[in-house]
Amino acid sequence: MEKELTRAFGKMTYGIYVLTTSYKQEINGMIASWVSQVSYEPPMIMVAIHPNRYSHHLIKKSGYFTLHLLAKNQTDLLERFKGHDPSAKFNGIQWTRGKTGCPILKACVAYMECEVKTSYSPGNHILFIGKVRNAQVLSKDDPLCTSDYAGVYLGKD
Ligand SMILES: Cc1cc2nc3c(=O)[nH]c(=O)nc-3n(C[C@H](O)[C@H](O)[C@H](O)COP(=O)(O)O)c2cc1C
Repeated sequence: MEKELTRAFGKMTYGIYVLTTSYKQEINGMIASWVSQVSYEPPMIMVAIHPNRYSHHLIKKSGYFTLHLLAKNQTDLLERFKGHDPSAKFNGIQWTRGKTGCPILKACVAYMECEVKTSYSPGNHILFIGKVRNAQVLSKDDPLCTSDYAGVYLGKD
């Protein structure tokens, strides 16, 4: 059953996002794909983050995150944000601090700045549900999703 379940999970499709976080002077960014809109009024976004992530620690401390939709031609950003050194992730790209303090990448399809309203711990990831405080569309490019990328995030660890 586990092998078949893993194969079935591997067929699920998602967007691929860069999620940024900050707490005081600390900043970070990570790739996330377990993401969904969960309400229109009020506008709410859910992200599922493993508690081992440095990003998880920063969201817990600050109560904020910013989600970036990437363009299909921005797969280079995935390599950049896969690492563990926060300063290397932002070195050499353009970004600013948004209203929530989280980094906003200049090059992206759109971003949403979110304030965490509640969180749940249903399994090995923590669900943070954030109210969108600010959103902007920056390009007309088609957004990147898992069907454009080799490998789906399975969330085992
Ligand atoms: C395509 C892709 C999607 C991912 N989606 C998630 C996700 O939704 N939640 C999560 O906790 N980790 C996800 N990850 C793993 C994190 O991006 C990775 O562990 C990252 O190094 C965490 O960074 P941090 O520890 O600096 O926060 C994903 C990785 C990839 C390659």
